[in-house]
Amino acid sequence: MDQHSAIATPPTPTLRLDYRPPAWAVPSIRLDFDLDAAVTRVRATLEVEKNSAEAAPRGPLALDGAPGMKPVSVTVDGRLLDAGEWRIEDDQLLIELTGPRHIVETEVVISPEKNTQLMGLYASGGLLCTQCEAEGFRRITFFPDRPDVLSRYTVKMTADRALYPVLLANGDLIGEGETGEGRHWAEWRDPFLKPCYLFAMVAGDLKANRDSFTTMSGREVQLGIWVREADLPRTEHAMTALKSSMAWDEKVYGREYDLGIFNIVAVADFNFGAMENKGLNIFNSRYILADPETATDADYDAIAGVVAHEYFHNWSGNRVTCRDWFQLSLKEGFTVFRDQEFSADQGSRAVKRIEDVRVLRAAQFPEDGGPLAHPIRPDSYLEISNFYTATIYNKGAEVIRMLHTMLGVEGFRRGTDLYFERHDGTAATCEDFVRAMEDANGADLTDFRRWYSQAGTPRLRAALSHEPGTAKARLTLEQVVPPTPGQDDKQPMPLPLRLALFGAKSGKAIVPERVHVLHDAEGEILFEGVDEQPVLSINRGFSAPVIVETNRTAADLAFLSGHDDDPFARFEAMQQLMVDTLVAAIEGREADEEAVIAAVRETLTDPSLDAAFVGEAVLLPNEAFLGDQLAVVDPTAIRRAREHLRQRLGRELEAEWRAAYAASAGNRFEYTPSAKGLRRLRTVALGYLDASGAADAAKQALAQYEGADNMTDRQGALTTLANGTSAERETALAAFYDRYRNDALVLDKWFTTQAISMREDTAEAVERLARHPDFTMTNPNRMRSLVGAFAANQFAFHSADGRGYRFVADMILKADKLNPQSAARLVPPLGRWRRFEPARAALMKAELERIVATPGLSKDVFEQASKSLA
Ligand code: ARG
Ligand code: ZN
Repeated sequence: MDQHSAIATPPTPTLRLDYRPPAWAVPSIRLDFDLDAAVTRVRATLEVEKNSAEAAPRGPLALDGAPGMKPVSVTVDGRLLDAGEWRIEDDQLLIELTGPRHIVETEVVISPEKNTQLMGLYASGGLLCTQCEAEGFRRITFFPDRPDVLSRYTVKMTADRALYPVLLANGDLIGEGETGEGRHWAEWRDPFLKPCYLFAMVAGDLKANRDSFTTMSGREVQLGIWVREADLPRTEHAMTALKSSMAWDEKVYGREYDLGIFNIVAVADFNFGAMENKGLNIFNSRYILADPETATDADYDAIAGVVAHEYFHNWSGNRVTCRDWFQLSLKEGFTVFRDQEFSADQGSRAVKRIEDVRVLRAAQFPEDGGPLAHPIRPDSYLEISNFYTATIYNKGAEVIRMLHTMLGVEGFRRGTDLYFERHDGTAATCEDFVRAMEDANGADLTDFRRWYSQAGTPRLRAALSHEPGTAKARLTLEQVVPPTPGQDDKQPMPLPLRLALFGAKSGKAIVPERVHVLHDAEGEILFEGVDEQPVLSINRGFSAPVIVETNRTAADLAFLSGHDDDPFARFEAMQQLMVDTLVAAIEGREADEEAVIAAVRETLTDPSLDAAFVGEAVLLPNEAFLGDQLAVVDPTAIRRAREHLRQRLGRELEAEWRAAYAASAGNRFEYTPSAKGLRRLRTVALGYLDASGAADAAKQALAQYEGADNMTDRQGALTTLANGTSAERETALAAFYDRYRNDALVLDKWFTTQAISMREDTAEAVERLARHPDFTMTNPNRMRSLVGAFAANQFAFHSADGRGYRFVADMILKADKLNPQSAARLVPPLGRWRRFEPARAALMKAELERIVATPGLSKDVFEQASKSLA
């Protein structure tokens, strides 16, 4: 098995600079599956060719396999080898070959139903399906499991017809038939070269929502979204998103789909969001299934975003793939940027940017500032699964966005055109991408490459001073890139800063927006003709992924929150005002709560703003984000200060909250930006009403719960109730459970709502829920819905008695035996121990030490826990 004793034999890291081209190429592979949940036979026929390139290593053919895997037979050029003619070393099958070209055939037997890691071929609710990225293919058959070995695949699947009437794989269906005894077969061929991580196969009793798309050159593509029959009515939204994505990639990037078939399959047990296998995307069902009764607006948005993301990978990932896994952000950062822009074009661009920056700050900044910090192109790993991180994905997308900002829409497009043209059909590097951007634009991105090599979130200090006599203003800029593990000394990063100056009196833009790139550690900009007191608007649209500190006063921020003409900057000014106020309160300094209350009132009653924006802007920064602003985190002090302000906002603006609530009362379900905005504001207003202590709040929430015609309103009401102690809370939670107990995706929400509750007894409640008959550790969605959600609930997880830490550590150790990826994801919340006050820090550290001392730990958990202690 995948196990070792942590202390006895620490695993050896894989290093980026150790890359060498493969010794053998595999131009084609034929796979023959005799499928069965308990015993599946896999015959693989590989055409192998010695790589004659100078840099390629010599030596035997080395095929990766899973730990403990043994071939039933090995033949070379039709001759059966005897056991002495091959050997297994470090989980690789080694065969000495004499010539430059051979046909190698292996047979293995695997058991999908015993595969609880959900990597390779596994069973999920009666289906058989695969997940191969990053290194799952080696759990199916012996193969050079690395992304720079590109092959043409032919796949024959044979299975019981009654259990598995549908047999899908990559590419085109080239034949099917019966074999007798109730079994049937299908054969698929993928005409495109691909690495094995893009291989996919599904067998099961599935039904398709079928549609078609005509590409820009007039080819018709058959689209299918495959689900269990009962789920068919919930696939329309995903289908619409798929067709919109296909059209968008043609329009914005000139990229056309390249096969006659595009299939998507939804599965209930899946380690992450979805997978871009060539022509056969496999999805976590939560990113496909939606109807108003069961999915929230956030679910609808996420579905469209993930469908687009996986579709976009057909070019940024599949046609051009990665040379090695250190280049992961080449496809992921770029593709996240593409899906973010797609979503921005479909709905409200400003709200989308606010949401994306929230995610970056909640998930990536803490990673960049903690023990697991790594550059978007890392230099080493123990287990690549641990590097599917917010840094690779979301910071990676910000890096691409900066190129887009600096080169402009057209320059960026010239760069991507050149990149796709140069590297189509190959496995490329991040360097190739940057070079294409340079060559297409005659640009010099030498310094910009630091964004690929250096970890850590830069801190930018910006101070504006005004000399009224001379009508001059001076902006001084200073950046610091903090040290991160293994990187003590940093070079400054080029920061593209969108900035503008506003007149504090007139409200006018005195200096219109411009982009200034700060290349050095320090910089200065002089503005002329500034004849009134200026207010600085900087990093508008979050043009650089940095932490900004300015010398702006509460009055400046309040002014910007009401007058900046960039909606993101308006939001940002309000957030900064709230943060400054709350941090002052937490640190026992004087806090200007009045300024916050006035600014929220102004935003709430500004008729020119849309509801979706208002709903985001008036929310207080969450407790974890406040923790990130402090040198030492005390969750109790944060809770106290934030609740105090939240209650005041509730009370003093009670009439305004009621008015905002009433204004959306007639809203019926529609998935449109304006209807979504009204729902958002409605639930935010309900939350503040509840905070105000109004006697009718719980009744109001239950009425919203019961009268809802959609899940957004229902869950919004339930979340509000779940924070409190009313009788209505128990009524609604019980009703929700009864109504949705048979719908796993909705039941996940029931667990999450309780796990994120602000109640004092949440840690206890979560321990109880982990013993609930509907809780299971084998389903990653359920794990995340309870344990993952709890670990993100700062106040509850950091319960001063340490019970939250103990609970999560217990879960990690139990889950590690079943699914190391799922277990390892829970380590980073404990890994943040250095940031907390000493008593909690000691308790967290002790749990990490207990984890690391446990024998038989997976590489996944060992890497995360040991690095967290280092
Ligand atoms: N490539 C997939 C995506 O679209 C995710 C694969 C994640 N793999 C993993 N081992 N965590 O983002
Ligand atoms: Zn991706």
